[in-house]
This record gives sequence, C-alpha cells and structure tokens, in this order.
Amino acid sequence: MGYPHKSHPRETAVLSKYFGDTEARTLDGWKKRGGYRGLEMALQMEPSGIVDVLKASGLRGRGGAGFPTGMKWSFMKPGDGKPHYLCCNADESEPGTFKDREIMRWTPHALVEGCALGAYAIGAETAYIYIRGEFTEPIKWMEAALKEAYAAGILGANAMGTGKTVNVYVHKGAGAYICGEETALMESLEGKRGNPRIKPPFPAVAGLFGQPTTINNVETLAAAPHILVNGAEWYKAMCLSNPKSTGTKLFSVCGNIQRPGNYEIVMGFPFKDFLYDLCGGPPAGRKFKAIIPGGSSVPIQTVDEAEATLMDYEGFVAQGTMLGSGGVIVFDDTQSIPRQVARLTRFYAHESCGQCTQCREGTAWTTKILDRICAGSGTFEDLDTLLELAEQMTGKTICVLSDSCAAPVVSGLQKFRHEFEALIKGKRSSTVATGSAANTSSKGAAA
Ligand SMILES: Cc1cc2nc3c(=O)[nH]c(=O)nc-3n(C[C@H](O)[C@H](O)[C@H](O)COP(=O)(O)O)c2cc1C
Repeated sequence: MGYPHKSHPRETAVLSKYFGDTEARTLDGWKKRGGYRGLEMALQMEPSGIVDVLKASGLRGRGGAGFPTGMKWSFMKPGDGKPHYLCCNADESEPGTFKDREIMRWTPHALVEGCALGAYAIGAETAYIYIRGEFTEPIKWMEAALKEAYAAGILGANAMGTGKTVNVYVHKGAGAYICGEETALMESLEGKRGNPRIKPPFPAVAGLFGQPTTINNVETLAAAPHILVNGAEWYKAMCLSNPKSTGTKLFSVCGNIQRPGNYEIVMGFPFKDFLYDLCGGPPAGRKFKAIIPGGSSVPIQTVDEAEATLMDYEGFVAQGTMLGSGGVIVFDDTQSIPRQVARLTRFYAHESCGQCTQCREGTAWTTKILDRICAGSGTFEDLDTLLELAEQMTGKTICVLSDSCAAPVVSGLQKFRHEFEALIKGKRSSTVATGSAANTSSKGAAA
C-alpha cells in the first residue's frame, strides 16, 4: 500500500521522513537509514546520562499532557532492587488523531528502538507496547519488527552484545478509549477491566504490577533515539517560538480541509500558514468556521483565534485551547457546531468507564440535552444546565475523560452560542449540518 503524502517543503520530517518507504520497515532497511545507532549509543551510557540528554533536549510528552520526558524518566531510580517497567501508549483513540499508527505502520523499528532505549534509561528490563486492538496493520508490522530485532540480538538477554537485558512485547487492547489513560492502560495490561486508578500513588512509585513504571506515547519514544544521535542542542534548536516547546511535532489533520493527513512541523509554526499553505485551506467555495486543534478533548477555537496561534504548547494555551495530541479537526461554514459538539459528547458518554458519577451521568445527560436542542425541542434553560453540568464534570473525577467531554461544550457555547439559540428558537441553524467533520480513520493522508 502506498502513502500518498509527500512532505511539504515547509515540513521538517524527522519522524515522518520514511513514511511511505516500504524498505524502512525492515531491519536492514532501517539500519541503512541510520536506525539503531541511538540505542547502540544509549547502551554504552549510564542510564542517568541518557536522562540528562533528554532533559536538556526539552522533549515533552506527545500523548496529550506535554509533561517533560526527561523529568518523567528521572522519577525512576534504576538499581533500587525492584523490577521496573516501561509502557508504550499505542492506544491512539482520541478522535482526530492518527499519527502514532503511521509511525508503527511505516517505521516500526523506530518504536522498537525508542522503547528499548527508554526501558534501559529507566532501569527496566521489560517494555510493553499497549496497542489498540483495531490496529491490525500496525500490529503486524510491530510484531515483524520485534521478531527481527530478537533474531538479530538487538533485544533479549544480551542486547546488542552489551550483556544488558531489554525485552519488548506487543500487547493488544480491545478498542476502549479509556485504556489510553495511563492507569487504565496498566489495569488492562494486568488483565483487568480498564478502569483508571486514583493517583497518588503515581506510576513511578507503584505502576504496572505495583512496580515503578513509566508510560510514554509512541511519538515521544520514537523521538528519543534521534535526540541521542544528534544531541540535545540539535533538538532544542528546533523551536520557532517558545523555548519551552522544542523539536518537531506530528499533527494529524482531518475534516473540511483540502489536504488532510499527517504533517510534521517545528514547534512554534504559525497555525495560519499550516492551515492554508500546508493543508490547502478550506474546500472550494467554503470558509473555515471553527477548529479543534489538539484532538477532541481540547476547547474549540474560532478561526480568528486559530489564525493567531503559534503551534506549540504555550501558543495554543494563549489562544484559549491546548496542543493536546495534535489532532486538528476542521469545520467549515456548512457545519453546525451544536451537532458536532453533540457528536463528540456521545463519544465520551459511550467511552466513560462509569466509575465516577459526574462522568457516568454527566456525559450521558449532556448528550441527551444536546440531542434535544439539535432536534429543535431545547429550551434556554438547557443552556444553563449544560454549563452547570460541565462545571460539575471538570476537575472532580479520577481521570480527565469527564473534563474532556465538558471542554467542547463550554467552548462551543462560549464561542457559538448564537447557533444553539437559533435551534432553540425553532429556526434553522444558521448553517446546514452535513455530518461529522471528525474523521478518525487510519488514512495517513489524502493528496
Ligand atoms: C481518557 C484518556 C485517554 C488517553 N488516551 C491516550 C492515548 O490514546 N495515547 C496516549 O499516548 N496518551 C493518551 N492519554 C494520555 C496518557 O494518560 C498519558 O498522559 C500519556 O500516555 C503519557 O505519555 P507522554 O508523556 O509521552 O505524553 C489519555 C488520557 C486520557 C485521560
């Protein structure tokens, strides 16, 4: 299967450089492209030295929260006599996000290498790649890459001939969004229902099987070998705006846009240029109406806000939203915001694990009220109820699934209230609903 996306000249392809290059999938091909040099270097170093390089690089977690990776790794104490674990979060179920699957699909050895390097750095002999069960093709390539890496002695009891033990395994999930939450992921890995755990204790203290554990996203781990090979300064220099956001970031783009797909840019890239120059702007004859820039869990932006944004952690916050997972969902002027928000909350209601009342009841009631409004039977009181519900759903539950459901409701009401009111008044919405703009298919890109 080919990969139609060609790098745009303004992209900086580090992780995506070999997307579409089928030879990069094999061990030989990966080594010819410089693969496994980062792991080789790392295995000659003290774990603390690797952590120092990661800290200096400024790499932050690409799974959504943006926690500094080197600092996270430094919470683990190699040599404490306990088994340590690394979990790679390859669940990628956030609507609008489809980048991790492409890393695994095209460059599976990049992730094997990143996992082995990360495991060694935190004093773990075992890493698990927790991969979303529906990802049949990425699973196939990951399993093939692991088989090759073991056969070549890169993994196992004498990793790369260093006498060090590094094992990496693939574990398939069963398609539950909540299992992407790090503590639910560990429960699921232990063979239990994927319910999030209360923190503290944090995973670095008591994680998988009660032992010190680090959880990192696919993109985060795949970046680590490049940092070892090229140095922290090289990574830090990839920064167009705020020095707290460094390196490249993959953004998945879907919805009403000319060229959807994955794009890798340097942190701080202007969002306006990204939307119009790289992604080609809105479909012919249409205008952008709203953007969700970081996966469905972050607040909606108006076009003005989006066009004023610099694409890094701080830049998105400054414009009322978050970078999140980098899943950009674009709505044009034919889309109804109330309908799109209802569609998102239905997803959260379906995926709530049900442990916390605010989430179990809140996501369901929010969806019912929004459906009622969209059906033309809503009341102005409903809008107040939605905001009250959102308040009760924010910052009060074990994990932030509930907060994620509230975010598009609150931002949708703040920024597009007139559309909700138009439906309540019994008039047609100012725009016609034509279905969902959020495309979560695993399509890498469309030309
Ligand atoms: C409901 C929910 C779903 C999540 N899904 C994912 C996911 O699919 N992939 C991911 O990497 N992180 C996901 N996260 C974030 C993880 O809990 C965790 O922060 C992340 O894997 C840490 O890796 P990082 O530091 O490399 O970003 C999710 C969080 C929540 C609350």
